[in-house]
Amino acid sequence: MNPQLVSPDAAFQQTYTEALREFHAENRNLEQDVIILSRDFAGYVRHLEKQSTDERREGLVPETYYWLVDDSVYIGRVSVRHTLNNRLMQFGGHIGYEIRPTKRRMGYGKRILQLGLAKARLLGITRALVTCDDDNIGSAKIIEANGGILENTVLLNHRAVATRRYWIDVVG
Ligand SMILES: CC(C)(COP(=O)(O)OP(=O)(O)OC[C@H]1O[C@@H](n2cnc3c(N)ncnc32)[C@H](O)[C@@H]1OP(=O)(O)O)[C@@H](O)C(=O)NCCC(=O)NCCS
Repeated sequence: MNPQLVSPDAAFQQTYTEALREFHAENRNLEQDVIILSRDFAGYVRHLEKQSTDERREGLVPETYYWLVDDSVYIGRVSVRHTLNNRLMQFGGHIGYEIRPTKRRMGYGKRILQLGLAKARLLGITRALVTCDDDNIGSAKIIEANGGILENTVLLNHRAVATRRYWIDVVG
């Protein structure tokens, strides 16, 4: 196992699409349509690249996407938000990640956050906020294994489940 973070790349279209079908089977990422994506995958990659610039829609901070690949197979994604706004300060934080369903519980989750934190450091983030649902045991373990210190658990108006807010000192 030698997973690495890469920038989104059309070379991974096939295994990305297979992963998307897995996410759909658990009702995640439904906003992405396999057929539409297959018509212009390179355009989707360009769309992701553009998220890291300052020209995002109002209310969205610049966010850089990376894909975790292992042996040329798409495993999951992590994104790093360059700054926090009021909304992200409560929910979402600096870093979001997901591992495709068939590749879970193999340690990729811990690794993707570790690698994502290194990317955050390169963006000048020295203290990263990472949040997860109070009942997301896997994610809480990932954050804690990466040095997360729980600040608090908050019940937000728009969320049925309480949100755990962790801070991680990002070492250089
Ligand atoms: C949460 C998620 C990233 C975990 O990824 P993963 O690759 O399975 O994580 P790991 O294999 O590194 O597991 C980390 C730890 O959590 C445990 N774990 C993982 N999923 C678990 C689950 N559903 N229930 C209980 N424990 C779980 C693992 O056994 C491991 O425990 P250990 O430290 O005692 O060995 C993955 O389930 C996922 O993508 N979920 C949907 C999106 C999501 O929740 N993203 C995080 C948002 S904050």
